[in-house]
Amino acid sequence: MNLTELNRIATAMVAPGKGILAADESSGTIKKRFDAIGVESTEGNRRDYREMLFRSKEAMSQYISGVILYDETIWQDAKDGTPLVKLIEQSGAIPGIKVDEGTQPLPMCPGELVTVGLDKLAERLKKYYDRGARFAKWRAVIDIGSGIPSMTAISVNAHALARYAALCQAAQIVPIVEPEVLMDGDHDIDRCFEVTNRVLNETFQELRAQRVALEGMVLKPNMAVSGKKCAKQASVEEVAEKTIRLLKACVPAAVPGIAFLSGGQSDAEATAHLNAMHKLGPLPWGLTFSYGRALQAAPQKAWSGKAENVAAGQRAFSHRARMNGLASKGEWQSSLEQKAA
Ligand code: 13P
Repeated sequence: MNLTELNRIATAMVAPGKGILAADESSGTIKKRFDAIGVESTEGNRRDYREMLFRSKEAMSQYISGVILYDETIWQDAKDGTPLVKLIEQSGAIPGIKVDEGTQPLPMCPGELVTVGLDKLAERLKKYYDRGARFAKWRAVIDIGSGIPSMTAISVNAHALARYAALCQAAQIVPIVEPEVLMDGDHDIDRCFEVTNRVLNETFQELRAQRVALEGMVLKPNMAVSGKKCAKQASVEEVAEKTIRLLKACVPAAVPGIAFLSGGQSDAEATAHLNAMHKLGPLPWGLTFSYGRALQAAPQKAWSGKAENVAAGQRAFSHRARMNGLASKGEWQSSLEQKAA
C-alpha cells in the first residue's frame, strides 16, 4: 500500500470548491428515478443520461472532484466509443466505483439490514483499478425506529465497512466509508444525533481495529437532521451546529475529508446545510458533498429522456454543482439560486 498516494487522492476528492457526484444508482434505483420522469430504464437510456452528466464541461471541470459509478457504467462506452471512465478522467475528475452488493435482512434483528459484498471483493477491486477506479464506496444502512437500531446491527455493519476499507487500501483504492443513518421516520434531530454518534464511534473503532489508515479514506456520513415525518423540523443553523459538533467528537483529524450524502433532503436544504457548516470553521478536515439526488433531480427533470434537452440537462446539473461547490467554501447565498432560474 502506498499511503502517500492514497492520501493524495483522498485530499483531491474533498478539494475546496469541489465535491463528488454519486451516480452509482443500482439498476433498481435508477429505474425509480427514470419512472418519475417517464423514461424507460434501458441500458442505452442509462448510458445516454450518464454521458450527458459526464460531458457537462463546466460542472465536471470546476465543481466535481470525483464520480461514483455503478458496475454497469464503469464498463460502458459513450456513443462515440470512448469509455465513460475516460470522459471522467479527461474532465479532470477521478473515477470511483460502488462495490457493495446491497443489503439483506439481518438475521435475529427484525427490520434491520446488513450490507453484503465482501466475497471475492479483492478480485473485483483489482479489475476496477485496472479500468481506472481510484476510489470506492460501500454503504451501510441504519434505520431509526421503535427499538432500533440494535447494537448488533451497528456493529456488524461497522465490521463490514472496515473489512471493505482494508481490502480497498490493500488494492490501492481510497475507500469511501458510508454508514448512513436514514432520515425516514418521525424521530427528532437529537435522536438522529445520538444514533449517528453511536454509529460513527463504532465505525472508527472497527476501522482502527482492522488497521485501516485513516489518512487514506473519506467518510460519507448523514447530517444530523430531523426525521422526515417529525413534526418539528430543525433549522438550517441547528443542523449545521449539531452536525459539526457530532463530527468533531467522532471523526479524527487524520481523516482528510468528509463528503455528505443528501439522503432525501431537498436540493436547497442540502446546499444550505453544507454552506452553514462552513460558517462554523475552521474545520479539521475537508468538508464537502457526495450527493446523488440533490445533484441529479434537477438535470433528470430537465432532460426527461429527450436528446433535444441535453443542453438544458447539462445547464441544470452545472447549476447545482456550482451551488454546492460554493457551499463547500461557505460562499453560497440563496439569491444565487433565483438568478439562475
Ligand atoms: P443521496 O445523496 O441521494 O443520498 O445519494 C448519495 C449516495 O451515494 C447514497 O449512498
